[in-house]
Amino acid sequence: MDLEEFKRNGYETVDRIYNYYKSLRDDPSSIAVQSDVKPGYLRGAIADAPPNRGTSFGEIQDEFRDVVLPGLNHWQHPSAFHYFPANTSFESMLSEMLISSINNPGFSWDSNPCSELELQVMDWLANLFGLQDTFHHFRRGAGGGVVQASSSESILVAVTAAREKYLHENETRDQSRLVVYASTQTHSSASKAARVLNLRIRLLEVSAETELALTGEAVARAVAEDRQNGLVPFIVVATVGTTSTGAVDSVDSVGSVARQNRLWMHIDAAWAGTHLAVPEVRDELMLAAINQYADSINIGMHKMGLVSMSTVAFFVRDLRSITDALTITPEYLRNKATDSGQVLDFKDCIIGLGRHFSSPKIYFMLKSYGVEGFREHIRRSIELGERFRQLLKSDGRFELVCKPRLSLTVFRLRGGEGSEISSVNELNRKFYSNLVAHRNELSLTHTAVNGVYCVRFVCGCPQTKEKHVDKAFHVIARVGAETVNGF
Ligand SMILES: Cc1ncc(COP(=O)(O)O)c(C=O)c1O
Repeated sequence: MDLEEFKRNGYETVDRIYNYYKSLRDDPSSIAVQSDVKPGYLRGAIADAPPNRGTSFGEIQDEFRDVVLPGLNHWQHPSAFHYFPANTSFESMLSEMLISSINNPGFSWDSNPCSELELQVMDWLANLFGLQDTFHHFRRGAGGGVVQASSSESILVAVTAAREKYLHENETRDQSRLVVYASTQTHSSASKAARVLNLRIRLLEVSAETELALTGEAVARAVAEDRQNGLVPFIVVATVGTTSTGAVDSVDSVGSVARQNRLWMHIDAAWAGTHLAVPEVRDELMLAAINQYADSINIGMHKMGLVSMSTVAFFVRDLRSITDALTITPEYLRNKATDSGQVLDFKDCIIGLGRHFSSPKIYFMLKSYGVEGFREHIRRSIELGERFRQLLKSDGRFELVCKPRLSLTVFRLRGGEGSEISSVNELNRKFYSNLVAHRNELSLTHTAVNGVYCVRFVCGCPQTKEKHVDKAFHVIARVGAETVNGF
């Protein structure tokens, strides 16, 4: 493709994107939210080898549309209420185009001085989320923020930094007795980090009594027990907004126990963290305790933050603890700027070397939305979640399984009087499988909370309006009634 063709095809691609979003806005029922293709659907549909001679861009676009995209689940569809949102914005899309056009791996200041933008926008985010000065680059304190490609990598970086800090302070390389703490509700990425680093992890049980939150008491008990057995506690991962139910760990009591026991405390706020932009939910999300105790926190901008994959804001109280753990500078990467000590090379804060230049996405989005526009987006999703709960309450067949959080509702069909848990679970499995059959109308996911099978409903797609929530509820209510009648 030459430059002139690029221009023509570029406009044509934007037209295609425009038409897609126009359909999502004006005629969403013309697009099935979830695909109904079967595993292997692409095998045979795409040639086994690339063509010898190039194909025209228009032909490639058409094949992509007709052959590949039928397998697309539409996360930007107004009736996508599954997992967690992975929303984006037109600002993010257009800036992504600019970023990919300059394609700069920006691992060091020397390789991309405009990676300095990241320092600025991370401070904007720290400010937006109410993080105290120590988590900012340009205020008093030793901390700051860095873009990581995922929350999983953020947790891996935090655990690595905590491990290196412990080993350094104790002048040892023996990590065989170190223990990571988390809860059974913690995202699997904490267990994955422990596995990658060959560390022990202890997942502590949580119960309905604490609203599925990990408590300081549970951590203190486990730490004391493990110490008696010769083990060495060194980090606890607390979650603000668990994946299954949005539970918020008791950051204050866990933080206080972590402090007393010299444990690093990482906060996984992959989904809920962006909601800290809204002052009225900061108490619920324990911002004061985060500020007081957290050593690090990850907030997924690519979930609710109107920025496309893969963009996670990772803040640390002491940046040196990260760079001490991850800095390795071979001769071929040495340069004057790095040697001067005046710059932050982002390669020293991440697992990889080359990286996506993601900060312009945050910059474009936040400059265009403004703080109030971003807050409005978060508030709307919470309001839509509340609207869904009101509708659910009006139908006696349903019950909430746990305390709803922000825009997330976890619910199920009630069992009959005196029903066994196994039978209510069976009813709800059937209910969910009947809902899945309506994949062209809405998309939901399920979970199990301490043995209770349930369905999750979460809002956050900017395309979603009240009418889509109402329509989803009507499908859910109808399918619920049919399931109960046929059980
Ligand atoms: C609480 C929590 N932590 C971590 C993750 C993993 O996020 P990522 O896909 O960015 O690694 C998720 C994903 O949904 C999550 O909900």
